[in-house]
Amino acid sequence: MISEAQEQKSSLSFLSLFSGCGGLDLGFIQAGFGPIAAFDIWPLAVENYRTNIGDHAHVWDLSNGQLPSELYCDVVVAGSPCQGFSTVGKRDIDDPRNHLLQSAVKIGINAKPKAMVFENVLGILQGDHKAHWDRAHAQLNAAGYKTSTLIIDARDTGAPQSRKRAFLIAWEKHFELTPVIEKQNHSTLGDALRNVSTLANHEPRSLLIDGSEYKIATKIKPGQKLCNVRGGEASVHTWNIPEVFGDTTPEEREILQCIMKLRRRIRRRSFGDADPVTPRDVYLNLQRKVTTDIKSLIKKGYLRKIEDSVDLTNTFNGKYRRPLSNGASHTVDSRFGDPRCFLHPNEHRGFSVREAARIQKFPDSYVFHGPIDEQFRLVGNAVPPTMGFAIGKMIKDALSREHK
Ligand SMILES: C[S@@+](CC[C@H](N)C(=O)[O-])C[C@H]1O[C@@H](n2cnc3c(N)ncnc32)[C@H](O)[C@@H]1O
Repeated sequence: MISEAQEQKSSLSFLSLFSGCGGLDLGFIQAGFGPIAAFDIWPLAVENYRTNIGDHAHVWDLSNGQLPSELYCDVVVAGSPCQGFSTVGKRDIDDPRNHLLQSAVKIGINAKPKAMVFENVLGILQGDHKAHWDRAHAQLNAAGYKTSTLIIDARDTGAPQSRKRAFLIAWEKHFELTPVIEKQNHSTLGDALRNVSTLANHEPRSLLIDGSEYKIATKIKPGQKLCNVRGGEASVHTWNIPEVFGDTTPEEREILQCIMKLRRRIRRRSFGDADPVTPRDVYLNLQRKVTTDIKSLIKKGYLRKIEDSVDLTNTFNGKYRRPLSNGASHTVDSRFGDPRCFLHPNEHRGFSVREAARIQKFPDSYVFHGPIDEQFRLVGNAVPPTMGFAIGKMIKDALSREHK
């Protein structure tokens, strides 16, 4: 598959930084670029890259902003780590990985390319973290490049997945580039999951029948998740699954529903998105005595006491998410194989690495190696090749116009 693309002997070359297992690179190769080198610090990622894409990938620490030797190319692509910026993580402003974007910018400018692409999560555009992105724009502008931030949803590139990512595109001032991708028709999760059973990397994690995880899974319908944070049809609450979490009376369930609402409505702190609730607030809201029921719910483990207030013991926000097969998948991340996080749309099991790779639009010929959790990390970290293709094509079209 890849060698075919490389055989096209593109006259346009690219250098890949933080290449991972090569999702973004595959897209650039499919768009007609030839890779000259790819670097990543993670040996397993490089091994997977070398086996599936080509032996131009090397283990290298990019944190000092230098390559093992001087390299020049037409385009530099870099998907530096997102952990310090992601709203799923701690968003540590001092995470040392946040500075790797600047290393990529430095290496990029030194390679004197016609264009550069820096990819990250949308969290990099929010709050104090945006300083890293703004600084990258400023450094690239000072080096003579025009820049633009593009937000792309993988769905618009043909991947059946909501995955929005920020791309900083930089291009030499003297050529015209309109930073807009060609949108593709939306595909569905059901399409992506078809005919995988005989393929490599299809070993989904099953749930022990009669175990509590399986019992929870049987209660979650497509489009739903286990969630005590919000009401509505998409949320299945722990008190709706008595066989796992224990019986409750209708009065106790009324109290749990009430606390679920009030903990987000009556705010006491300026951080987080919910606070413990006082029994008095519950009493005022329900206009009835609540002490006995609250005591019983603490005993049953549904509520916990926090000073003079109570809160739900488990919020389970977004656990056991089961997507609709005729819609888009949730974002594929490193936990995608864990059924306690993500369930297959119509089977009581988690996804396999192959299914995750299909949703990310990796070709079936890409075979992943290594411990299963690490394979999920490789796939979840990757930019869907279709996203790489859309950006690669946008840049290639602009560069070709210049040569006409
Ligand atoms: C978001 S992933 C890149 C995914 C890749 N662009 C793709 O599409 O498959 C970030 C990568 O940065 C690598 N990385 C982290 N710190 C690094 C460092 N100091 N030097 C080189 N690579 C590093 C990680 O190993 C990881 O593979």
